[in-house]
Amino acid sequence: MNVVIVGTGYVGLTTGVALAYLGHKVTCLDVIEEKIEMLKDGKSPIYEHGLEEMMALASPNLRFTSSYEDAGIDQANVIFISVGTPQLPDGNPNLAYVQQAAESIGRHLGDTFTVIVNKSTVPIGSGNWVGSLVRDAIFQTNGRSGEGQFAVGSNPEFLREGSALHDTLYPDRIVIGAEDQRAIVTLTHLYRPILNQDFPAPDFLPRPEGLSAVPMVTTDLASAELIKYAANAFLALKISYINEIAQLAEKVGADITQIARGIGLDTRIGSRFLNAGIGWGGSCFGKDTAALIRTAEEYRLTLPIVHAAREVNYQQRVWVVEKLLDELKILKGRTIALLGLAFKPNTDDLRDAPALDIARHLMKRGAKVKAHDPIALENARKYFGDLGVHYYDSIFEAVQDADAVVLVTEWTDYRKIDWEAIKPLMKTPLVLDGRNFLPRQTLEQIGFHYVGVGIGGVRAAYLPNGVAQTI
Ligand SMILES: NC(=O)c1ccc[n+]([C@@H]2O[C@H](COP(=O)([O-])OP(=O)(O)OC[C@H]3O[C@@H](n4cnc5c(N)ncnc54)[C@H](O)[C@@H]3O)[C@@H](O)[C@H]2O)c1
Repeated sequence: MNVVIVGTGYVGLTTGVALAYLGHKVTCLDVIEEKIEMLKDGKSPIYEHGLEEMMALASPNLRFTSSYEDAGIDQANVIFISVGTPQLPDGNPNLAYVQQAAESIGRHLGDTFTVIVNKSTVPIGSGNWVGSLVRDAIFQTNGRSGEGQFAVGSNPEFLREGSALHDTLYPDRIVIGAEDQRAIVTLTHLYRPILNQDFPAPDFLPRPEGLSAVPMVTTDLASAELIKYAANAFLALKISYINEIAQLAEKVGADITQIARGIGLDTRIGSRFLNAGIGWGGSCFGKDTAALIRTAEEYRLTLPIVHAAREVNYQQRVWVVEKLLDELKILKGRTIALLGLAFKPNTDDLRDAPALDIARHLMKRGAKVKAHDPIALENARKYFGDLGVHYYDSIFEAVQDADAVVLVTEWTDYRKIDWEAIKPLMKTPLVLDGRNFLPRQTLEQIGFHYVGVGIGGVRAAYLPNGVAQTI
């Protein structure tokens, strides 16, 4: 099929590359020419495992352009809108990019029946709105009504940054919403190789064992749009829930990692998204929970559970600062080293990253903040160079003269740190492990004071027979 992807960010580029790999003819369109030039050179503007390898494999089916005229919109069977929908100050998503994309698509549609798909996360009702924008643009361009020329579908995206290609090729489910049956038929056809899992898996992204088919949910537009928001809000509140329990665990001397395991083994609950820590960030959970609340308000609903999930989450960032204050007593003039800036490992994305909020809080209290990240430093320098944070490519330089190290992002590399070599470089051997990720025993043996999230400060469990055991 002929596919056009409008917006080549984390979602659009991954979708386009995967569909081209599966045999569709794909044109990726973005308004940022610099991005398109990089892509034409075979380089990915974002960091995602396997993306450049797959771009090379799929190159005979893949084209990049920054021009709507040149994108082949008039020949497209399917056009994905996957532009950004960032949060506005009032909590609503900014739909300006979706609007520009829809109008530009409308101006360039041809006679081929085309399914225009909202892949961007957009509020309920956006499918209808995009339909009317496209119809208006068709009318203004050639006086036609657009009737029968196109249909709008919603195909929300659930990929996780850091494993975006994997999630696209091997998703838990595909959701399609549309009022026009032709849209459902077209998208089912487009996704057939993924639904049937009958494509040859690339060596660098093997098919998960036992995956023989992917379920598809076909529904109406509004339900598909709400599925996306409801899913993200649920995941966000699961993390906030374990963080809330972690606060209590710490007070009563319990260990949240054991509690999470104890409740997560219940198949009704499941163990994923139960890691206590500094909380969620990134481009989706914050903005999507805010947008869900705004939508509910339009219908005079308040969604108290979603509100609470947000409140608990953003409090975790303040908690880090309070914890350092507890330990160091004075923050003014202290040096704090942050390990990890990206909002989660395996990505260079800094949108709503907890590290940046933590740095701001610390600097407001007079601390100097030094930071290291294996991948996201370039973005940090580019977008947050004026924040006042000192960025280091070397962990050793970042921790030099630090009064505390705070582990913010659980990059695998940080598990391999030579803490023996780090200790003499620091002023105070204090480690705040914001993800309960570091080897606590090793650190304590070396002489660090280790502070985790929700683990009561005491690691020894006293068994009924009076024998102290390390958990
Ligand atoms: N990033 C994720 O993990 C993720 C996961 C699921 C859903 N989503 C949703 O998918 C959408 C895209 O997210 P993203 O992270 O890929 O965004 P992004 O910011 O990485 O990419 C968006 C791209 O769209 C381009 N663009 C903007 N206006 C355009 C226009 N008129 N024509 C052509 N290109 C245009 C931008 O230049 C940019 O490259 C958002 O709605 C987001 O909420 C994101």
